[in-house]
Amino acid sequence: MKTRITEMLGIQHPVIQGGMHHVGFAELAAAVSNAGGLGIITGLTQGTPEKLANEIARCREMTDKPFGVNLTFLPSLTPPDYPGLIQAIIDGGVKVVETAGNNPAQWLPILKQHNIKVIHKCTSVRHALKAEAIGCDAVSVDGFECGGHPGEDDVPNFILLPRAADELTIPFVASGGMADGRSLVAALALGAEGINMGTRFIVTKEAPVHENVKQAILAASELDTRLVMRPLRNTERVLTNPSVERLLQKEAALGNDIKFDDIAAEVAGVYPKVMHNGDMDAGAWSCGMVAGLIHDQPTVQQLIDTIMAEAKTIIQQRLSGFIN
Ligand SMILES: Cc1cc2nc3c(=O)[nH]c(=O)nc-3n(C[C@H](O)[C@H](O)[C@H](O)COP(=O)(O)O)c2cc1C
Repeated sequence: MKTRITEMLGIQHPVIQGGMHHVGFAELAAAVSNAGGLGIITGLTQGTPEKLANEIARCREMTDKPFGVNLTFLPSLTPPDYPGLIQAIIDGGVKVVETAGNNPAQWLPILKQHNIKVIHKCTSVRHALKAEAIGCDAVSVDGFECGGHPGEDDVPNFILLPRAADELTIPFVASGGMADGRSLVAALALGAEGINMGTRFIVTKEAPVHENVKQAILAASELDTRLVMRPLRNTERVLTNPSVERLLQKEAALGNDIKFDDIAAEVAGVYPKVMHNGDMDAGAWSCGMVAGLIHDQPTVQQLIDTIMAEAKTIIQQRLSGFIN
């Protein structure tokens, strides 16, 4: 399939794997790129420029196809070494960066200077327009359904994507709730040039996470996610578990007086415990409503091949059947 996104990124299929903390390691990124999509290594999971350089080199050993690196900009008392991480990306010859979390304007000149395409992930039309104005090459439009941080506007993709299509000139991919060929065709119909998936890619053979994580997503329905950290205006969509319910009780009890320290036990340092150790009640971890559409654990190649075959059948048979 050819879209503005496949052309821009030099990939076969318009399917991107979004950055995922403690999930987006070289194994998953390489598997997605080898299957014709765009795999993305999560920069902050590596933490230091040296470790990121190492991970990029590992990924390059596993694929000769293009892959990207996610840089998430979060408010932090001790910010990561972003200039060092960017230098590791440049030195590693990576040609695509997915930015998220905050306006990437300050890092664009150096990325552009090295011919790196920047896809900014954002959750509103105004932020997408801002990304376009500052010179991002594409945006990933993340609807309210998404796993991770859906922002504070709560606009689902059936509205957000056509709104983005009406306003943007640069290409965009649909993110949040994407799982199969139906999602891809719907995203294309609403104006996107492809899809970005997070949660769906966790339940694949190659995703380097504990089997308990995959089983938890397989067991979950679309009703099993919760929004946490709303009072801190740092909303995250997570899979429910006892610590998430405890966190929500604290939020209800403390209201707007809540501080990060009040919930640190449920949200700080959780990812390695969940993703690596399989300790499913260690705290809150991101998961999309799309869990309700995930019923199998294919290889990444099988997943992407099935998405593309299903999309083609829907377009050629079901949709064209309506008008012929
Ligand atoms: C476990 C998990 C961790 C994530 N970590 C990050 C991250 O570190 N940085 C980021 O930009 N997005 C992160 N995301 C968001 C994904 O890149 C993607 O935008 C989102 O999952 C799309 O929604 P979906 O899960 O419905 O496919 C994460 C998502 C999940 C499920």
